[in-house]
Amino acid sequence: MDRTLVICKPDAVERGLVGEIIGRFERKGLRIVAAELRTLDRGVLDRHYAEHAGKGFYGELVAFMGRGPALVAVVEGPEDAWSVVRHMMGATDPMNAAAGTIRGDFGTMVTENLVHGSDSAESARREVAIFFPDLHQE
Ligand code: RTP
Ligand code: MG
Repeated sequence: MDRTLVICKPDAVERGLVGEIIGRFERKGLRIVAAELRTLDRGVLDRHYAEHAGKGFYGELVAFMGRGPALVAVVEGPEDAWSVVRHMMGATDPMNAAAGTIRGDFGTMVTENLVHGSDSAESARREVAIFFPDLHQE
């Protein structure tokens, strides 16, 4: 089995869309192996989004991601779970995301785009270890 990190971002929690988002992954055939509602602090966000440090949108991104609780989860599927999740999320900017994707169906703002998914197998391993260091990784 293959695992990846999913975050239902603070806007998804505020809007009551966590069940909708996680339900889509479950109906697709992915299984939740860990999940917790957490308010993410600056330290964990700096590690998670290290690739974006110094970019123009970084301050807005981490302020948004820490403004309230997020649902952090690990989901598992037969192979390339990260890729399955990314396809279901849609493009980063919800205005460009296809209908039928999570961002395409529920979002209008590039910052408040509802959901995070790891963008490669290596990112998935790195990010699962940040958020769930005690979870056994195959
Ligand atoms: P994520 O990491 O949150 O799953 O999103 P992503 O891979 O689709 O996009 P990424 O390039 O990793 O960017 C991380 C988050 O930063 C915000 N962003 N804003 N204003 C902008 O041009 C801009 N670009 C990126 C988005 O909220 C994006 O999810
Ligand atoms: Mg990303």
